Amino acid sequence: MTYSRIAGTGGYLPERVLTNAELERLVDTSDAWIRERTGIAERRVAAPGEGTTDLAERAARRALEAADVAPESVDLIVVGTTTPDRIYPSTACRLQARLGAFGCPAFDVQAVCTGFVYALGVADKFVRAGSARRALVVGADRHSHLLDWSDRGTCVLFGDGAGAVVLERSDEPGIVSTHLHADGRYEDLLYVEGGTPIGNGRLSEGNAYTQMRGNEVFRVAVRTLMRIVDETLSANGLAKSDVDWLIPHQANIRIIEATARKLEMPMERVVVTVDHHGNTSAASVPLALDVAVRDGRIKRGDRLLLEAFGGGFTWGSALVRY
Ligand code: UT7
Repeated sequence: MTYSRIAGTGGYLPERVLTNAELERLVDTSDAWIRERTGIAERRVAAPGEGTTDLAERAARRALEAADVAPESVDLIVVGTTTPDRIYPSTACRLQARLGAFGCPAFDVQAVCTGFVYALGVADKFVRAGSARRALVVGADRHSHLLDWSDRGTCVLFGDGAGAVVLERSDEPGIVSTHLHADGRYEDLLYVEGGTPIGNGRLSEGNAYTQMRGNEVFRVAVRTLMRIVDETLSANGLAKSDVDWLIPHQANIRIIEATARKLEMPMERVVVTVDHHGNTSAASVPLALDVAVRDGRIKRGDRLLLEAFGGGFTWGSALVRY
């Protein structure tokens, strides 16, 4: 059998740190509220002129370096992002041009915060099917661009960043299984206006901000992530205790803790970055993975459960033997 395995990971955060104290000066909020309700202490925001492709390139180069492979040897590029620099060409094509991996297929996957897990699932299937030998899979978002900085319900939550993995063909898994889902009926709970409008209008300006009914999203997220944990374990005939590390989407510490409780997993086995990164959307899972690989917590052979939930709604998981 042919599988894919993670050969290297990389991550990148913009330099600029935005603290809760600074947000207190922008909107009617407090450091105490943000920490208590979300677990976030600070987040990073991209510099003016620093786009999603820039973030993606930094993370991608670090992943390629960790895997010790040349960028030109990549034969598939999949980028999970909801904040492309341009409507087209895709971020993946722009990234390919930077890396010089000309000719290979390159495309974006738009699944909001589940973008990386979707991208990983797609790339894994390319490798399993024999259509690619070495895939670069990126989650990158510059969500700060989509925030209304006068809306305290959203502007305190998000941050910018990128994470990446290099997938390689292998005789053993690797990516053991991926589980991808969506339910488009929930569009009104989490969306951004804009795009190419239906009718005769031009591209909308001025209202392309994240709109979220946070409390309702929260409740569906907790329920859904609990279900996907069960689905992933039972698809592989595993018990909760067989998972070494939970690498969850970093939206809110209370959602992460609820999923960990469901897995009966102590928080020491859960990778948490939401405190310093905020919600980096598609970047959150690969960034968390990269942090824990680089600080030595995650070791070769460990069994990882990656999961994410986001606008769409979309949600998904991956069981990985690192
Ligand atoms: O990654 C994609 C998926 N996204 C998520 O998973 C996000 C899910 N949602 C959440 O994380 C939480 O719902 C939030 C952090 C967004 C909000 O926390 P909450 O505990 O659900 O608060 P709430 O929306 O029920 O609001 C409680 C109160 C409200 O005031 P009143 O009506 O009780 O007077 C809000 O207006 O907190 C108020 N509030 C704030 N207060 C201070 C909302 N945002 C803030 C704020 N600072 N930044």
